[in-house]
Amino acid sequence: MLNPKPFRLSLTQSYDANQSVNKASYISDLITASQLLRAGSVVAMPTETVYGLAADISQQAAVEQIFALKGRPTNHPLIIHIGAITQLQDYAMRISDYAYQLAKHFWPGPLTLVLYKSDLVGDWVTGGHDTVGIRMPNHPLALELINQVGKPLAAPSANRFGKISPTQAAHVYAEFGDKVAIVEGGDCQVGIESTIIDATEPHVCTILRPGMISEAQIQAVIGSHVGIQPFSKNSRQVSGTLKSHYAPSKPTFLFQDAQGLAKLQAEQQGRFVGLLLSEDYAGVFTQSITMPNSENDYAQTLYSAMRSADMSLCDKIAIELPPMGWKGIRDRLHRSCASFQQEIYDNA
Ligand code: TXA
Ligand code: MG
Repeated sequence: MLNPKPFRLSLTQSYDANQSVNKASYISDLITASQLLRAGSVVAMPTETVYGLAADISQQAAVEQIFALKGRPTNHPLIIHIGAITQLQDYAMRISDYAYQLAKHFWPGPLTLVLYKSDLVGDWVTGGHDTVGIRMPNHPLALELINQVGKPLAAPSANRFGKISPTQAAHVYAEFGDKVAIVEGGDCQVGIESTIIDATEPHVCTILRPGMISEAQIQAVIGSHVGIQPFSKNSRQVSGTLKSHYAPSKPTFLFQDAQGLAKLQAEQQGRFVGLLLSEDYAGVFTQSITMPNSENDYAQTLYSAMRSADMSLCDKIAIELPPMGWKGIRDRLHRSCASFQQEIYDNA
């Protein structure tokens, strides 16, 4: 009988997805990780977006462990991660042509399709919903793990409910300590969670959660005969669409421009750490973290920067909003401050 005692896998080893990897040094770890998963344990695995808390979808008790560890309400559905596009038809039904097109174009990658579930997906994964979110992650270790287990892996982001998602193995350790085994996969390359699309309707889809795959990229693949309808109150519920999510524990405020910053300073006292794009603002804050100017690099470092800010000696966090077009990033920023801030500090 396998000992399911939690352990950490080579947490100090750094892994660069762009370099050729001595896979042999990981194989034995992945075999152990896949044995743990088959034995019904939860294992944290890297993906290209964020680390996930993974369990074999066919094992109800293992999946229930995920909800317990996260402190997540049991009616909030989990995404399942498959190892090949061909597995899509095993776990989803009534798959429209455009859903296939999106899978073929973006997988493996940071896109989740919500589709009607097949009987192979238990209610314990979907929180009783008749649909399932599916994606094929673009990380060699995740894909190898899924294929070694031989079943899709249900995996939400490996953070406690409502908190900042992890993009490094060390972040997962900070959340759960020795309670879960962690497969070290280096820094996540995308850095924010996948774009989620409700693809259950044949002629129109809805973006339930924006991400680094944009609406324009999606429209270019599905063509103009399939519409993209705006997210509304009637859209399917996702916990990532709760008003407050991805939240640091320190009060967090967003500002748009110099006037917004002046207003924020007038209304909020305390020692601030700033996450800044513009160097002009650096002197204003007790501490500042310079954010990258490119959208991809910003996304990749965002959660690490938010964690550093949260651990700083300052009492509050101020974040300069990036450009309007960075929708996935702005979505996460707005939710991260939602429990502290009623309005965004802009020049209005
Ligand atoms: O990039 C990602 O998507 C990461 C990595 C680990 O794959 N996963 C992730 O999972 O962000 P999670 O559980 O933290 O967020 C998934 C979101 C939740 O808001 C959940 O409510 C929604 O997807 N979701 C899952 N299945 C759904 C369904 N059938 N219908 C509507 N929303 C669904
Ligand atoms: Mg999450």
